[in-house]
Amino acid sequence: MCGIVSYIGHQPARPILINGLKRLEYRGYDSAGIALLEDDQSIIYKKSGQVSELESILQPTQESLSIGIGHTRWATHGKATDNNSHPHKSHSGRIVLVHNGIIENYLELKATLAQHNIHCQTETDTEVLANYLDLRLQQLGGTLAEHISQIISEVVGTYGLVIYDTQMPNELIATRLESPLVLGIGEKELFLGSDATPIVEHTRKVLYLENRDIIKLSRLGFEFIKQTEEAKIEEVSMDISEIDKGDYEDYMLKEIEEQKVSIFNTFRGRLSPDNQWIKLGGLREFEHKLRDCHAINIVACGTSWHAGLVAKQMIETFVHLPVHVHYGSEFRYNRLLLNSNDVLIAISQSGETADTLGAVRLAKEKDVTVLGICNVVGSSLARETNGGIFTHAGAEISVASTKAFTAQVTVIAMLAAHLAHIRQDNLMADGQAALNALPNQIDQVIQQKESIKQIASIFDQWNSCLFLGRGLDFPVALEGALKLKEISYIHAEGYPAGEMKHGPIALIEKGMPIVVVASPSETYSKTIGAIEELKARDANIIAIVSESDTQIEKLTDNIIRVPNTQSALVNPILYSVPLQLLAYYAAKSRGLNVDKPRNLAKSVTVE
Ligand code: M6R
Repeated sequence: MCGIVSYIGHQPARPILINGLKRLEYRGYDSAGIALLEDDQSIIYKKSGQVSELESILQPTQESLSIGIGHTRWATHGKATDNNSHPHKSHSGRIVLVHNGIIENYLELKATLAQHNIHCQTETDTEVLANYLDLRLQQLGGTLAEHISQIISEVVGTYGLVIYDTQMPNELIATRLESPLVLGIGEKELFLGSDATPIVEHTRKVLYLENRDIIKLSRLGFEFIKQTEEAKIEEVSMDISEIDKGDYEDYMLKEIEEQKVSIFNTFRGRLSPDNQWIKLGGLREFEHKLRDCHAINIVACGTSWHAGLVAKQMIETFVHLPVHVHYGSEFRYNRLLLNSNDVLIAISQSGETADTLGAVRLAKEKDVTVLGICNVVGSSLARETNGGIFTHAGAEISVASTKAFTAQVTVIAMLAAHLAHIRQDNLMADGQAALNALPNQIDQVIQQKESIKQIASIFDQWNSCLFLGRGLDFPVALEGALKLKEISYIHAEGYPAGEMKHGPIALIEKGMPIVVVASPSETYSKTIGAIEELKARDANIIAIVSESDTQIEKLTDNIIRVPNTQSALVNPILYSVPLQLLAYYAAKSRGLNVDKPRNLAKSVTVE
């Protein structure tokens, strides 16, 4: 959580930092701050609220300073106040830093500081660290660059850190442990970012810092104070239009509409024209494992966990291979029943979710083969898994995941077809044809956005609703409920349609909106039974059905139709799109900021 951007070079740092923070705001937007530094000059601006709030307090002075560190926060220790915002300064003013992560032994460090009569002015673990660095430097003598390696080894926790020591002006020190940091390399200028988004408009040459790497940046270049692995400078291929809102009011709507293209990018080059093969290059060397394993385990969080549930339904139904889906946050603390014969697939849009990465690391310690399904090239997940598949959805900025989810499910559909091919000699060619038809079909759903907007107005008067579905429609319903609750703050529960009668039916009152996902399937008639039960209790049913459906229209006026597909493999993709639009319009109608819902952040890099 939290976003870091830093700059050292020959240009004024301020606009680079502010622009970078805007790019990183999806990682946290409780408060933001920058420190501008150079020689003996320094100024810190920090403010609770979004980066626009920070901009409003900037003064015209110090505009030319060309070293700076910036931070956008998602609060862990201490409320989102001006005072708790980063950057933090040590008691003597010597150390100024920004931090992403959690200092777990901050109480211990604080006690040491108290013994030296050093007291913190904020509620944050980060200020404790700034003070502790300062104290230890006083004790050790010398510069931060000389002692950072030792001092940081006394710190327990996770961190992405950029530090300025006023006694060594004109250089920055950066280090990371479990929180990402990317170095951008320009012409006599260097950038640091929590990811590449604040960097790509300045340079495409990047270097991903590894855990415990420590690096010193100056205008002359960078050097490793500590290097854990050989560093490789890479070229990022991200297109600026991916991270620009363009003419859209919100990233979320842009990303929903982009699905007609992003889905194509996900399967492009991976399907053969004659439907004879699926090419998943990142799995090639693990094919024997995938062929011989007795089960697949999946680990993920949030929306990605829902994609995992889709995988369970698809792979169990079409490949007859058991799939166990785990929450990242639970997996680590459960008894690990996997061994070196097993395969674990981690699904994550960002590739930086701490809970998912924790599970991956634990599984790797036990020699389990770990594969990733990930959107962000260069992310920790992409680098730490044994192999995997990129989803190629493009940068997803809105906190509510949309195109990344459908890309994950597209990869899962291809994986299911591929597994069927290698395990059963049955390629599921209809699945490939269905995938090819998807971009156009998604477009047809998006064309209905005005009527979906009207249907979404049903939620205006309600603060509670249910999303129901069976089989492959169940994880779609769960995802639809998550989308609605996270951006509109309406309490929404996803439930298997057949389970409703075992409890949730007690919630139903006249007019309550109930969204039912009813794709053609062998349980379709059972879903109709559930709709009848709801109707008998005067619920207001919103049904997502296929184009050729003739039965459900007799039961409700609120029908959203999606095109008929050639294979159930693609239904979770297509049926998710109207649910994303429903959530979007319900939230917009409440006047909410759909891209930055309260209390959330895009990547949850703390446990
Ligand atoms: O980056 P990841 O896919 O690992 O993120 C997992 C969840 O934090 C994420 O899906 C979250 O649930 C989204 N806000 C959902 O829209």
